Amino acid sequence: MSLKHSKLILYVFYICLFIFISCESESDIQPPQDEAMLLEDYESSYHIIQVEIFDKYCTSCHVAGNTYAEESRLILTSDTSYASLINVIPNNEAAQSDGLLLVGTDGLQSLYASFLWEKINAPNQENFYSDHPYYGALMPLGSPALTNGQIDFIGDWISEGAPGTGHVADISFLDNIERYDAEFTPLEVPENGIQIHLGPFEVAPQKETEFFYYFELNNDSELFIKRVEIEMRSGSHHFILYTYPENFWIAVEDSVERHLRNPDESYNESVLSIMAYQIFFTGTQWRQLDVTFPENVALRLPVNTTFDQNPHYLNYSDDTYLGEVYTNLHFAESEPEHIAEILQLNVIEEIYLPPNDTTTIEKTFMFEDILIENGLDPLSITTIDKINILQLFSHAHEKMLEFEVFIIDNDPSTEDEQIYYNNDWEHPPINYYGEGWDYEHPVYPAIEIFPEEGLRLKASYYNWTDETLDFGFLSTDEMMILFGYFYTQ
Ligand code: HEC
Repeated sequence: MSLKHSKLILYVFYICLFIFISCESESDIQPPQDEAMLLEDYESSYHIIQVEIFDKYCTSCHVAGNTYAEESRLILTSDTSYASLINVIPNNEAAQSDGLLLVGTDGLQSLYASFLWEKINAPNQENFYSDHPYYGALMPLGSPALTNGQIDFIGDWISEGAPGTGHVADISFLDNIERYDAEFTPLEVPENGIQIHLGPFEVAPQKETEFFYYFELNNDSELFIKRVEIEMRSGSHHFILYTYPENFWIAVEDSVERHLRNPDESYNESVLSIMAYQIFFTGTQWRQLDVTFPENVALRLPVNTTFDQNPHYLNYSDDTYLGEVYTNLHFAESEPEHIAEILQLNVIEEIYLPPNDTTTIEKTFMFEDILIENGLDPLSITTIDKINILQLFSHAHEKMLEFEVFIIDNDPSTEDEQIYYNNDWEHPPINYYGEGWDYEHPVYPAIEIFPEEGLRLKASYYNWTDETLDFGFLSTDEMMILFGYFYTQ
């Protein structure tokens, strides 16, 4: 690394440190107080059910004049809901012949004879559909289930005799915002491997939630990872597991959510600045991942590995949801023949983006450059005949329009072949290459790079600001990095 580079990185590091410290002092600013009515101030348990549940999730359909209300013969608006439910025979014929009431008033023994309870009890979903094929759909129709807390609150109210007045149901049930998620099954702990579990954590309404969660693995020997499984609750956009360089020198806060965006939606620069040191270990843009490396290849975790878990969730509803992620890292049976090295090709000095203009930057990394950039000893390079690329994805910031990668072969008469394309800076595709992957998504043809060959990186940016931009770690700066896995032969 040239002196200029080291100075630049040191300089950027100091800026980051400064921002890191200044941001920390802001963290005791409290979020604005929720103006919603306190649950204790409602007139009764039934009043809470009406306002917090029926009015929010049911009366869009169960309102006078609506065709759904006519089909179900049930109106849940506050003027008539109590009278429409209590000791009323259901409209549904199967429920009628089973002797159910919409809501009975005999306390606990009424609970399982109340059709309202059957219709909302999502955690019992499988039994509902298999035991009672003619009971219709679970409610609210076409929406995510009520939270387990809301369901328990209604259940408690019915168990207490379903009165129209008085506080009979336990308000603390409503703190549980977990929802039954039919698609999510926690992973079993692997027999030969480790399980990492994140959450459940809250995903706030009407925004994106993206954070980092740092922890130390405290492994006293190297580990080789052969297969990765990831399982996330619905609503996820991506999940990435990062590691840090061995003996990483910046202290990162342990076991807390470090959010990428501040409450005002601006980027939290202290979080962003640390991202530059993260090493992509594994990740997925799908809700589930199950990928096994080709035979004789595995990832390596050095002694005392530190991880950052990075979930990204979207929530465009008005309710808080829960996110949760399980990651299983399965060990290789024996030390692999080839270690999947982390590829990282940085373009730094070439980034120069004049204001109000589109700029395209290209840089080639020939065989030796790729090896040296990724930390291989220049003396050992002569013994290497081939680089096998296993995975690629790009990293840039918000000014990026397109990022392309081409393979330069040593035949000057042919055009360079494109092997990677991305036009979404926030969510770069993660591509897998070569034979032998056990993966249900597309795997691209093998990429082998021989001496005299290389990779050409090409990225275009639109700088809409009035200032020239160059390389840096802040969201307003730019980057051009190619990440991935490779091994040498
Ligand atoms: C998108 C429209 C829609 C929403 C929202 C909705 N429902 Fe329904 N509901 C229906 C329809 C249609 C039926 C009749 C068909 C069925 O039972 O599957 C029905 C039936 C019912 C029944 C059975 C009535 C009977 O006598 O057979 C109950 C109880 C019920 N809904 C409760 C609720 C509750 C509680 C909510 C809110 C948590 C809710 N519904 C939200 C459309 C809706």
